[in-house]
Amino acid sequence: MKTLIIYGTKHGCTEKCAKILAEKLTGKVELYNLKEKKNLDITLYDKVIIGGSIYIGKIRKEVSQFSMENLNVLKDKKVGLYICGMHEDEVVEKQLNDAFPQELIEKAVAKESFGGEFIIKKMNFLERLIVKKVAKIDKDVSNISDEKIDNFAKVMNRV
Ligand SMILES: Cc1cc2nc3c(=O)[nH]c(=O)nc-3n(C[C@H](O)[C@H](O)[C@H](O)COP(=O)(O)O)c2cc1C
Repeated sequence: MKTLIIYGTKHGCTEKCAKILAEKLTGKVELYNLKEKKNLDITLYDKVIIGGSIYIGKIRKEVSQFSMENLNVLKDKKVGLYICGMHEDEVVEKQLNDAFPQELIEKAVAKESFGGEFIIKKMNFLERLIVKKVAKIDKDVSNISDEKIDNFAKVMNRV
C-alpha cells in the first residue's frame, strides 16, 4: 500500500503535521509540498491524504486548486483530508467542510482538523497585526493535537 500526503503550508505547521502523520502510517508513505511543483503522478498511490492551512476562513489556494483539478483521479483513491487552523469552536467543522469539494468531503474515509500554531517570528507585519487584534495573541502558541493525528492515522491504516 502506497500513501501520498500532499499539503499546502505557509509557515510550516501543515508540513509538521504531515510528518507526524507519516510516522504513524503503515506501508510506504511519500510527502509532497504543493509549492514544489515537481512532477507528480497520483495514480501511483492507493491512498491520498490532502492537508492545508486556513487563513481568514479559507484553505490555502494551492490546496483547493489541487483538489478541484484532480477530483477525477481522487474518486478512485482512499482519501483523507485535514486542515490546520487555530479556531477551536463550532467554526472548525464549517472550515473543514468548506475547504474541500463536496465530492471529496463525502468520500473521505478520514477528515479532521489537527489544530494549529501561531509562531510570531514567521509572520509578516500584517499577519502579526491581525493575530494581535483578532486572536489577541502576541506570543507563540501551539495546539497541534497528537491525539487527533493518531486517530486519523488509525482510520487510514484500516482501509
Ligand atoms: C493572518 C492569519 C489568519 C488566520 N486565519 C485563520 C482562520 O480563519 N481560521 C483558523 O482556524 N486559523 C486561522 N489562522 C491560523 C493558521 O491557520 C495557523 O497559524 C496554522 O497553523 C498555519 O498553518 P501553516 O503554517 O501550515 O500555514 C490564521 C493565521 C494568520 C496568521
